[in-house]
Amino acid sequence: MSPVELDAVQGAGADTLEIAVVIPTFNEKANVAALIAKLDQALAGRRWEAIFVDDDSPDGTAEAARVLGRSDMRVRVIQRIGRRGLSSACIEGLCATAAPVVAVIDGDLQHDETLLPKMLDLLQAGDHDVVIGSRFVSGGGTGDWDRDRVAKSALATRLSRRVLKADLSDPMSGFFAIRTDVARALAPRLSAIGFKILLDLLTAAPEPLRFAELPYTFRCRTEGESKLDHVVALEYLIALYDRMFGRFVPVRFAMFSAIGVLGIGVHMAVLSALFLGIGTSFLVGQIGATLAALTMNFFLNNALTYRDRRLKGWRQLADGWVSFALICSVGAIANVGIAAFMHDVRNDAWAVSAMIGVLVGAVWNYALSSRFTWGR
Ligand code: GDD
Ligand code: MN
Repeated sequence: MSPVELDAVQGAGADTLEIAVVIPTFNEKANVAALIAKLDQALAGRRWEAIFVDDDSPDGTAEAARVLGRSDMRVRVIQRIGRRGLSSACIEGLCATAAPVVAVIDGDLQHDETLLPKMLDLLQAGDHDVVIGSRFVSGGGTGDWDRDRVAKSALATRLSRRVLKADLSDPMSGFFAIRTDVARALAPRLSAIGFKILLDLLTAAPEPLRFAELPYTFRCRTEGESKLDHVVALEYLIALYDRMFGRFVPVRFAMFSAIGVLGIGVHMAVLSALFLGIGTSFLVGQIGATLAALTMNFFLNNALTYRDRRLKGWRQLADGWVSFALICSVGAIANVGIAAFMHDVRNDAWAVSAMIGVLVGAVWNYALSSRFTWGR
């Protein structure tokens, strides 16, 4: 670390900002004031600011934080519109501060804010890049988690070992403090998918980060509810994929293609139900099957591939469906045209021709729908 950087982390003068606490929130209105009161106590005597990064929560979390911010200038708010995601919220928060150290803490009071001064001291001493609140070093704990969640968390931690070289006990922690210059340098390399911002930072670093872990006990939530659902679990797997193979096949394209393959299954199932089962004409069967597959692909891509910019409400969904249908129709024409050209004109093998046609159609559908259907 250069002397200038160390100076910045240690704080040059008595009134220099020392630490920013980034708080990602979605529907945490009832916890906002209590959290600031706890930070005020825990960080007494230190110069800090809190940055709420709220994804336009319907319960008015952002406004509740702004109300505090009007009388307490340490409280700042970033309100993101039409965006979702814990990791990406944290990244925006940590890029938005002038403080040399930045901590990330949940907005629901489940993390133990009394660790913050210790984290700050360790970083200011200059021997670490990141200090992590851990539930799994001695003295820490998972509080009142049921066996199911403990097992799932252990599985996720085991999986993370595949991408993580460092041997730390709690890479899934959402509670840590990091040198801001280190985090900012890593920001362009982050996948920003899902919940696991710490794992993302640790695995993005070209050189292993120098870390320390401090024990804490995960508290139970008293207000609001957890947003960790099945889609978030899936996002975790997607993030792991991204770290391992994202360089070769971008994760969104892989998702989009997997859903496309599922669509073929739906097409065949609906076609056989209509044509063979009910006994419609083949043309009617094909039209029904195409519409069913298209609609299913649209909604699955909306819920999964583009979860972070999901279309909502009748109007957006209807417009999106129409644009997706138009794009895919052109994609289908391109697919058939290219396959026919390769097979009939160039005499390429039929299977190769067909595969190339499918690939070109898929890339077309993906590129245009990500730009137009989900491109806001
Ligand atoms: N901005 C934003 N956008 N914030 C979000 C989003 C989102 O899409 N989803 C969740 N949050 C906020 C919540 O409002 C809360 O402040 C914090 O992120 C944690 O979300 P929870 O839904 O309460 O997660 P959890 O308690 O189940 O899991 C937490 O603890 C685990 C163990 O440390 C998270 O921090 C996990 O990352 C962590 O592994
Ligand atoms: Mn929580």
